[in-house]
Amino acid sequence: MKFFIDTANIDEIKKGMDFGMVDGVTTNPSLMAREGRNWRDVASDICQLVQGPVSLEVIGTTAEDMVNEAVELVKFGPNVVIKIPMTMPGLEAVKTLANMQIETNVTLVFSPLQALLAAKAGAAYVSPFVGRLDDIGQNGMDVVAGIIDIYDNYALDTEIIVASVRHPGHVLESAMMGADIATIPFKVIEKLSRHPLTDTGLEAFLADWKTVK
Ligand code: G3P
Repeated sequence: MKFFIDTANIDEIKKGMDFGMVDGVTTNPSLMAREGRNWRDVASDICQLVQGPVSLEVIGTTAEDMVNEAVELVKFGPNVVIKIPMTMPGLEAVKTLANMQIETNVTLVFSPLQALLAAKAGAAYVSPFVGRLDDIGQNGMDVVAGIIDIYDNYALDTEIIVASVRHPGHVLESAMMGADIATIPFKVIEKLSRHPLTDTGLEAFLADWKTVK
């Protein structure tokens, strides 16, 4: 499974890269706003740093506006993927951009049927938001399972990015289900490496080594 990092923060991306955990980056308007810098500088920095796909999101609400923004956003680098909201104008933009050989990532997906539509429109990626579904008492990973089944049934090659990942359990389930990608916040990537038995085991090894002659 590929690991994308869900952040617009350059330090987090660099740290993730140091551990070999950044196969790509996903951003959104909220993550960009959190940086408090000019978004163009942020987008440019990320695209220069990362070789894998970098999702940059449009803010237009008509297909025409989204396509026009996409044409500007792809100038940041050859690895830019245009993040498009799951709306009817969004699907129209996805279709147009696919015809222009511009890759899209359909975002704000909350049902398997939305993901089917995104794939049929020609999206390269689809992003089900699992944490936000869990937040309202639904099971986000059930939606991912449904998308995997549907994409398998029809050999659709749109890649599934499990998004709105909140904890290691989401990553574990994604990997066990065979999701293509999980886009993970840095703080969750850190948690993935930890296990209390690793810590106590290492402590014991180091203590014992002190007694070795
Ligand atoms: O990038 C989209 C998604 O991962 C957002 O996550 O935590 O704001 O629901 P969250």
